[in-house]
Amino acid sequence: MTTFGYTLHATSGAARRGTVTTPRGLIQTPAFMPVGTAATVKAMQVRDVAATGAEIILGNTYHLMLRPSAERIARLGGLHRFMGWEGPILTDSGGFQVMSLAKLRRLTEKAVTFQSHIDGSRHELSPERSIEIQNLLGSDIQMQLDECPPFPIAEDASLESLELSLRWAKRSKAAFDHLADDGRALFGIVQGSVYPDQRKRSAEGLMEIGFPGYSVGGLAVGEGQGAMFETLEVTTPLLPRDKPRYLMGVGKPDDLVGAVARGIDMFDCVLPTRSGRHGQAFTWDGPINIKNATYQDDPTPLDPESDCPASRDYAKAYLNHLFRAGEYLAATLLSWHNLAFYQALMQRMRTAIEDDRFEAFAADFLNRYRSSS
Ligand code: GUN
Repeated sequence: MTTFGYTLHATSGAARRGTVTTPRGLIQTPAFMPVGTAATVKAMQVRDVAATGAEIILGNTYHLMLRPSAERIARLGGLHRFMGWEGPILTDSGGFQVMSLAKLRRLTEKAVTFQSHIDGSRHELSPERSIEIQNLLGSDIQMQLDECPPFPIAEDASLESLELSLRWAKRSKAAFDHLADDGRALFGIVQGSVYPDQRKRSAEGLMEIGFPGYSVGGLAVGEGQGAMFETLEVTTPLLPRDKPRYLMGVGKPDDLVGAVARGIDMFDCVLPTRSGRHGQAFTWDGPINIKNATYQDDPTPLDPESDCPASRDYAKAYLNHLFRAGEYLAATLLSWHNLAFYQALMQRMRTAIEDDRFEAFAADFLNRYRSSS
């Protein structure tokens, strides 16, 4: 049985080129994980997601516990079989989604109780139940239950929240050690808002418990890119060199480049799929809105050099037409293109780190990406 692990191959400044090993396959880092919230990467077939170069996808405890339920997925053979994805799956623990989606939330030391956003039914999510659900799903990389505080938050309230998240980290680890199969991993989540001494307290508390990987949470919640980068600069140097670091819920292409430059290895974000469904396409020359009238007569594809059929084989004029006509294929093709773009960006970053030219790569990328906006 392969055990979970991380190998660091090369660095370029603070940027890291590594491999995460799991029993279901390797993940070359820096890596971007497409989001498959409800057991689907929206509008996509999993074989097409894999063909873009994605080696791991993300699922959500919160959504799957409500519908179709973790127990049902377990009876059907687990999340991998249920959705037809054979590679590794990372699951979020649910706390973040409870706070952003559920109704009538109540947080106590023991658990968070809430009403489903789907049918109003009442549920309780404790650190132990979150880990139980993630194991019923068969998740390869699991997250501790945490509290993601809003931004801005006062210093004392943030400290109280991070201490709760640390106590939940300890309970999550105890539940995981009791339940999880060999080769699965549980990550701790660093909180502490934009307060450097609190990030330090959180990272040290988690390292004392000991995890095979560390997530950085509580960012991209309205603090802005500058504050996010400053927080990463004080956080990643505190974390062990020989463990992967995952920045949760980030981000735009320029956020990814800046976060890799500051020592992050893994990312997830709904942006490529969500914005794709709404007509935004990412390109090396910056984002465009394909619904714009300027594309109505444009016979060129989004990226003639890409191997992705959605990027290479369809004219912008056709994509523009699909959106204007409200056709389902519009969402599929733009999600597919954006996922391929994100994977191509990660590949370019990995190569730049191997060649120890990440800083020059980042400057060139940003110069071109931002030139049209
Ligand atoms: N997704 C984005 N940010 C967070 C966070 O702080 N915690 C969790 N659990 N998930 C997230």
